Amino acid sequence: MSRTDPLVIFTPSGKRGTFPTGTRVLDAARQLGVDLDSVCGGRGICSKCQVAPSFGDFSKHGITSSPGALSEWNSVEERYKSIRGMIDGRRLGCQALIEGDVVIDVPPESQVHKQVVRKSADTRDIVLDPATRLYYVEVDAPDMHEPSGDLERLSKALAEQWDLPGTTCDLRIMQQLQPALRKGDWKVTVAVYQGNGPDEARIVHVWPGYYEGTLYGVAIDLGSTTIAAHLCDLRTGKVLASSGIMNPQIRFGEDLMSRVSYSMMNPGGAVEMTKAVRTALQALINTVAEEAAIDPALIFEAVFVANPVMHHLLLGIDPVELGQAPFALATSDSMSLLATELDLDVHPSARVYILPCIAGHVGADAAAVALSEAPHRSEDLVLIVDVGTNAEILLGNTQKVLACSSPTGPAFEGAQISSGQRAAPGAIERVEIDKVTKEPRFRVIGSDKWSDEDGFMAEAGTITGICGSGIIEAIAEMRMAGLVDPGGLIGSAAQTGTERCVANGRTHEYVLFEGDGTSPRITVTNGDIRAIQLAKAALYAGARLLMDQMGVDEVDRVVLAGAFGAHISPMHAMVLGMIPDCDVEKVTSAGNAAGTGARIALLNVSARREVEANVRKIVKVETAVEPRFQEHFVAASNIPHATEPYTKLRKIAPLPDVSFNTNGEDGGRRRRRRG
Ligand code: FES
Repeated sequence: MSRTDPLVIFTPSGKRGTFPTGTRVLDAARQLGVDLDSVCGGRGICSKCQVAPSFGDFSKHGITSSPGALSEWNSVEERYKSIRGMIDGRRLGCQALIEGDVVIDVPPESQVHKQVVRKSADTRDIVLDPATRLYYVEVDAPDMHEPSGDLERLSKALAEQWDLPGTTCDLRIMQQLQPALRKGDWKVTVAVYQGNGPDEARIVHVWPGYYEGTLYGVAIDLGSTTIAAHLCDLRTGKVLASSGIMNPQIRFGEDLMSRVSYSMMNPGGAVEMTKAVRTALQALINTVAEEAAIDPALIFEAVFVANPVMHHLLLGIDPVELGQAPFALATSDSMSLLATELDLDVHPSARVYILPCIAGHVGADAAAVALSEAPHRSEDLVLIVDVGTNAEILLGNTQKVLACSSPTGPAFEGAQISSGQRAAPGAIERVEIDKVTKEPRFRVIGSDKWSDEDGFMAEAGTITGICGSGIIEAIAEMRMAGLVDPGGLIGSAAQTGTERCVANGRTHEYVLFEGDGTSPRITVTNGDIRAIQLAKAALYAGARLLMDQMGVDEVDRVVLAGAFGAHISPMHAMVLGMIPDCDVEKVTSAGNAAGTGARIALLNVSARREVEANVRKIVKVETAVEPRFQEHFVAASNIPHATEPYTKLRKIAPLPDVSFNTNGEDGGRRRRRRG
């Protein structure tokens, strides 16, 4: 090549090179390593190779790009545009030939490794690089003089046309191969799975001719209380539908250990729980497929994240070993299996990838949080808490990452709370209590109005209960308004000065909402506070154990994650003492980080290798056998804490020094020393 050859500059990559006149834009892009898509291999069928040439003087690049720099619009492009439509100014990279200096833009939709835009700006982007991809190939017809099988000729075509050597396939594909090849006149589109690395390419579907459609995958966060699924388009990375359901295993036990005990006490119990969760997963997959109006048979991949007990029960492995030290996992490695092995009715050759577990109590969900939040890339010391029935806690920075899991129980998800419910329309999610009048106002999911605003009831409809973020705010607000003492006792009407504190047996409850003809009365009882105290003490104790191991008393920042992580107010979480004292502006929410980790692993195959390498470096801490856990737990049962001063928090939030007894008859508040 000499400079008499045209210079081609691709944007946005900035890659440039000179090419002989008549070179296809697609070939130039490939030679330069420019990310330009193609499914049909340059045959003018798929239109994935669309580019947008730019014309004019580009002093920045030192060239002038003129309309004559590319060959004329041809009949293939015309036919494509007239049938399917194409934005004016676009060209097909496999049809346009280079004839002069030119600047060519590759639009995002034509990039193979496109960035998938995440909703939250401060979290990492996902680069699309799925394990299953489509390839269009033209296969040699059989020849009696050179006998070879149809599969061998298809594999040869994939090696020659797509640089995919050594492809293999399941028997099921072999059974469909001959009719597909003949129907497509020796042209087929194949879906190839390379989830275990580039050396293992497996054909998982064959379509006669060019397949116009796309492939789908589902990322599933299998929690103890809730299961969440995101259906994604594997060609664009877009989430097409998301849905969640309660884990039906709750009927066998609310928390993990009670499910392990159910398995120990009941012969066949583990099998029963496996069946229940797989049935629920199928229902959830059908729901997201229906919502996106797609056939579940086009779901080619599923990625699961789960805590160790859920992980074992999903796989049909009795979790009994996880109920006692040394908490041995059947395997801590990631797993790749067939969806049919988990009884999932999706594409019959669909593959399932399960993220690795970190340790006996620290599962694939924690690994997914590490993948999503990347503490190992953080310069400052970050504490990440994924709040759920079992909290996943990570503490670390570029130097070292520690992880543990803490049995918080289902209270944070609305279970064990008298008016508790899942986060759904009608649930109270925000609460404020006036410090002087002790009157509450609240907001429910599905309405933007506060309860003291005009038209609230009309907009909110029926108020059904209180969800996890609502109960956290309610108790923290009660503590700030002096209605609850540091020990967690609610005062009487006489002690607090509000008729909203009413007797309930030997304790009291606070009336958040009186109820009306359609909505029930909603109160916060002392039992609710007790349940949240136990949950938050377990969370704090886990975090504190990691801080002990790291040799620190403070963290630089805190990330709150979890199914409802995005909705927890940082200040209220700190008033409650869920997390250590920290500057409140350094506490951020990450949403469902485990679910996001699952989605990253679904859409980017190299992220699977990244998480597999990462978990080996994470230092695991088993809270169950750490003697200091109990000590931290007891101290953390107070609101916010029995011994930690929470100096930073107290600068922004009043925490009245009140102390109540259970008889509620002393007619006032007693001052007590802060301690
Ligand atoms: S590569 Fe398929 S149309 Fe150009």
